[in-house]
Amino acid sequence: MAENHDHHNQRGLIAFLGSMAFVFIFFFYIVFINKGVELNENVSDPAPADAPKYDLLSEKEPWLPKAEVVTAGQKLFKQNCALCHGQNGDLVGGIANARHLVDGQWKVGNGMIAHFKVLQNGIAGTQMASFKQTLKPGERWAILNYIETITKNKSTDKTEDIATFAKSAD
Ligand code: HEC
Repeated sequence: MAENHDHHNQRGLIAFLGSMAFVFIFFFYIVFINKGVELNENVSDPAPADAPKYDLLSEKEPWLPKAEVVTAGQKLFKQNCALCHGQNGDLVGGIANARHLVDGQWKVGNGMIAHFKVLQNGIAGTQMASFKQTLKPGERWAILNYIETITKNKSTDKTEDIATFAKSAD
């Protein structure tokens, strides 16, 4: 059996110290010289605290299909309607007897004004409740604008008719 000249395992110690030295040098390089590792993760910076936040409720004509209104409406839809109508209004994850909003087989009536009335009054005798107490008119218009982007059965209400109706509707 070959005699073990490396009694105190000096080579192991050298290897260990060498790797520790490498780790520290590498650490120093990344932190102080290279200033971090580029991971290319495309992480978007969180909006700065003082960035102007979109305020749906200050929107003067929330029945118009402005991009910000639709985005706000989609968020409100997920919070208030998705439970029954599904995350995308197609009943997936919702309840079977709610309306498939993409197919848009409307029973109460076609168009933004009819839908707004549904949100004001609910549909008697069904699980479709009134949202008059829960959602401000502007929030309801935003949700309806979002529904317009997903439904195949779109509103043909004239903008001026919607505006006239909206000014008297709460
Ligand atoms: C608790 C379940 C439930 C929630 C929550 C709900 N709905 Fe409904 N909704 C229903 C049901 C059920 C119907 C179908 C009623 C019927 O049988 O006619 C319906 C029908 C509708 C209709 C169809 C009206 C028509 O003319 O046919 C619209 C539009 C609608 N809901 C929009 C919404 C919106 C917008 C929200 C969120 C603000 C919402 N619903 C939240 C259950 C729900």
